Amino acid sequence: MADFTKLTDFTPKHQHRAYVNSAVRFHTPCTKEDRLAAAIKAGWNVFQFPSKYTVGDFLSDSGTTTPTIEQLAASLLGDEAYGTNWGYEQLLEQFEKTFGITLLGNNAEWEIFLFHQCRAAEHALFTQIGRGKKGLVIPSNGHFDTTHANIEMNGIEALDIVSKQDGKFLGNMNLNKLYRLLANKKKKVPLVYCTITNNTMAGQPVSLNNIANISDACKTIGKPFFLDACRFAENAWFIKENEFPTSTIEEITRETFSRCDGFTISLKKDGLANMGGALCVKKGTVLFDKYPDILDNLRDHQICTEAHPTYGGMSGRDIMIVVEGLKTVITQEYLDSRILQVRAFGDYLNELGIPVVKPFGGHAVYIDVDKFFEGTTMKREDFGGISLTALLLLNGPRLCELGAFAFGTYDQKTGKEKFPPFNYVRIAIPRNKYEIEDLFYAADCIKNLYDKRNELPRAVCTYGKEKTLRHFKARFELQERK
Ligand code: F0G
Repeated sequence: MADFTKLTDFTPKHQHRAYVNSAVRFHTPCTKEDRLAAAIKAGWNVFQFPSKYTVGDFLSDSGTTTPTIEQLAASLLGDEAYGTNWGYEQLLEQFEKTFGITLLGNNAEWEIFLFHQCRAAEHALFTQIGRGKKGLVIPSNGHFDTTHANIEMNGIEALDIVSKQDGKFLGNMNLNKLYRLLANKKKKVPLVYCTITNNTMAGQPVSLNNIANISDACKTIGKPFFLDACRFAENAWFIKENEFPTSTIEEITRETFSRCDGFTISLKKDGLANMGGALCVKKGTVLFDKYPDILDNLRDHQICTEAHPTYGGMSGRDIMIVVEGLKTVITQEYLDSRILQVRAFGDYLNELGIPVVKPFGGHAVYIDVDKFFEGTTMKREDFGGISLTALLLLNGPRLCELGAFAFGTYDQKTGKEKFPPFNYVRIAIPRNKYEIEDLFYAADCIKNLYDKRNELPRAVCTYGKEKTLRHFKARFELQERK
């Protein structure tokens, strides 16, 4: 049997700083053998691989942000009171400023529910939406995996209707399909959802025009419109670049949120925090026609599963970090450095000839796995994306397959795999963490395996292929291709 580990022997053009100077935090000096033993123990599942052995951890941009000095300083002032802590008041003020919504005062139009992270907010929302109802469908330009799971676990169909159009806003929703769905009397749509930026669809942005059109369609037909706003600031940056160049990020953000009736947000992304999430609901909208008690019910859910409404699942320190994060994230300087770094990394991968999805999104670069293995004998059911991410662990970079395996399903009756329309490996870039050389090192490692793509093994799932959210749980073996 071939020794696949030899494929990772090569001399990179760039060195990751943590690798050169192993005093850099979190990296434990180790050999390839250490990594191999750890990878085999983890069943080649990247989620189960110890982070201390990674050199460039691109598994997620979520909660992996390095806090700024301002955030660290603010966290020291965190008030850990049980009820209505000092930070909570500041958080409401900052939400008002950043999103242009009103939460304070007697005439506040919005209500906020804090959670420890976004999926807890999704769980709360979809439990209420699905309760006692049948045959519901929630369309989106691209549901994230946990959003999808939270919707479907509550007996609701999660439907992705992505626009196939070319252009700068590949994350857009397909409006014709949306209009047809909303006009279909047999389909019960409790709300329409739009993810900015569209993580599932290669992190692509959504135009303000698309958001406005979805909002108008919802208003005309009397449906609530919600945003999954995890990367709202990065999305605003693309709107400024490609659609409204004379507007500021602040103006675009406020305009975006003026269009929706509610939103969920993971503060672990554009909150620049390591923990935190929220659900915001506008009062008195069409949502309340079918769900008159939803605010009370959400409050009960929050109290029973997270904590007192004024801190939800967050500590006083977390709250202060978010207050500062929401100030920084909408500045042009921060967003320029963030998104242009991702772009420079994408450009370098592109120069190396690696097939990446273009234009680049805000938080990650996505490798097109089908194109990566084009002309080789690697088939989709060989899970080349898993094989690529598995072998890369031996050089240090940790990436994540978000394609044939993560979004595919195994049909136990037919014994066949059902594949999603796309097949990607994501290289998510943590915020404020890496320098460009660190990213280039990862690119060199990918290029090495790209050059040897004919020899890469297939990944055979030995555990968990039939499970829900299987990419978090599965185990694999690397085997020679048939
Ligand atoms: N929505 C989107 C678009 C997301 O990307 C995520 C998380 C969530 C919701 C859930 O947020 O983690 O706070 O519960 N995405 C991470 C990722 C995990 O790696 O893309 P959460």
